[in-house]
Amino acid sequence: MKGSEYHKLTSYERFRLKRDDSVTGGSPDFFKSYPDVSYIELPRSVNFPKVNFWDVILGRRKSRIFSGASIKAMSALFYLSYGITATDRSGFYAFRSVPSAGALYPCELYGWIGGCSGIEAGLYHYNVREHLLEQIGRIRGTEDFLEFWVSVIPYRSAWKYGSRAFRYVLLDSGHLLEQIRIAAGIMGWKVTMYLGFDDFDRAAQMLCVDDRYESLIGRVVFRPLESDGELLFNADRSYLRERSIPAKGADYGRIIRAVLETTKREKFLQDDGDIEIQQGDVLPVDAVPLIINRRSRRNFVPMQIKKSELEIFFLALSQIRLPEELKLFFAVERVDGIIPGVYRYEGEGGNFKLEPVREGSTIYEIASACLDQMWVGNAAFAIVVMIDHEKVDGDSGDRVSGYRSALLTAGRVGQLTYLVSEAFGYGCCGIGALYDNEVANVVNYPSGFACYVLACGPVKKRL
Ligand SMILES: Cc1cc2nc3c(=O)[nH]c(=O)nc-3n(C[C@H](O)[C@H](O)[C@H](O)COP(=O)(O)O)c2cc1C
Repeated sequence: MKGSEYHKLTSYERFRLKRDDSVTGGSPDFFKSYPDVSYIELPRSVNFPKVNFWDVILGRRKSRIFSGASIKAMSALFYLSYGITATDRSGFYAFRSVPSAGALYPCELYGWIGGCSGIEAGLYHYNVREHLLEQIGRIRGTEDFLEFWVSVIPYRSAWKYGSRAFRYVLLDSGHLLEQIRIAAGIMGWKVTMYLGFDDFDRAAQMLCVDDRYESLIGRVVFRPLESDGELLFNADRSYLRERSIPAKGADYGRIIRAVLETTKREKFLQDDGDIEIQQGDVLPVDAVPLIINRRSRRNFVPMQIKKSELEIFFLALSQIRLPEELKLFFAVERVDGIIPGVYRYEGEGGNFKLEPVREGSTIYEIASACLDQMWVGNAAFAIVVMIDHEKVDGDSGDRVSGYRSALLTAGRVGQLTYLVSEAFGYGCCGIGALYDNEVANVVNYPSGFACYVLACGPVKKRL
């Protein structure tokens, strides 16, 4: 199934909620673990580097190629990438450094690690709940290498959202990939991000994951494993594969299976994430506390922000190379010095431009188009991420990208937007629950596909 077909099939329309019986089953396991493999506890007391957030996200910090690290540095890297940063009062919900639709966290994180003191060279699964590394395989050799691979267990999200979950799964994964890039920047390492794999099936085999339940999404390469280091599995491969199946309920249904298969064949986007932006005059902000305190905030107050602040959002987003099928719109409502209205944004490498699309207040229309989540109406502005319906199927010649990388990039945009909001002391909330056609109409792009909205602005009280 093509991305465009899937998107239409899973769109929400007011008064016409579609029945979706393609996903059935009970509540899933939200944490994956390999009970009987050897593991390495990551130290919990680490001294995080004190780094100015703006230097990291505006590419001003000198970063270096990974050449080995201490176990404490690896602990910090995993924690900042995907660690548990807060729990609710009951202790049931564990929130992470990244947001996730419905707090379901469908992503899993794996690391190919070599050259780190206290960690034997090998392939590891990050056990988020216990903050430890489960060793799946060993690698003979002494070189330094580090790669993070991100996979998804779509059922975790499909259990709640049915077939529409694949959109959220991709957005969530985009958030995580971007967060890994930022965590790497904080630790001072250069990375290259790939929103896909040359051969998904082979990658799944290397990880011993069962593609019927868990699927590879993308990777962040710090330093590739250059030699053909021999990978020795620490347990029987079939045992490892069984562990990739969530114990309760796992089948994410025929619709997600169909779109997953097609989008695996699309060419993917590579982003070296190393664009330097010299402009941007902002007070320094310590990056690590900001990541730990990031939360989705909905308690907006209808107050203005400054034009210069909005421009920092534009600058920060110009770090992300947008695939041509992705279009960003800013619905500006309360920004001192900018006429309220919808603007189309384009940016790259520190340059950006805005093209007016519509004049006037639109934030309440957006709130109503977001399944009547009326708190959005108090935001200072909203970013609306749209997909070009004609270009999205990603199979034309050698053009890179497609549906998968469009949604992953939308997730990356989301993660950066959350953190920039947080750095200004403002709030941000990603919104995936939307009436697709209504959102498209607000930004005057009725033929486009709405995929993500981010509401941003001053909030009442920081929780
Ligand atoms: C793809 C995506 C879609 C989301 N959609 C909504 C939404 O429609 N409404 C909402 O109130 N929150 C939404 N959220 C926010 C999540 O509910 C929130 O991330 C989650 O509860 C975890 O909390 P935290 O972000 O504070 O860590 C969304 C988040 C993501 C990443």
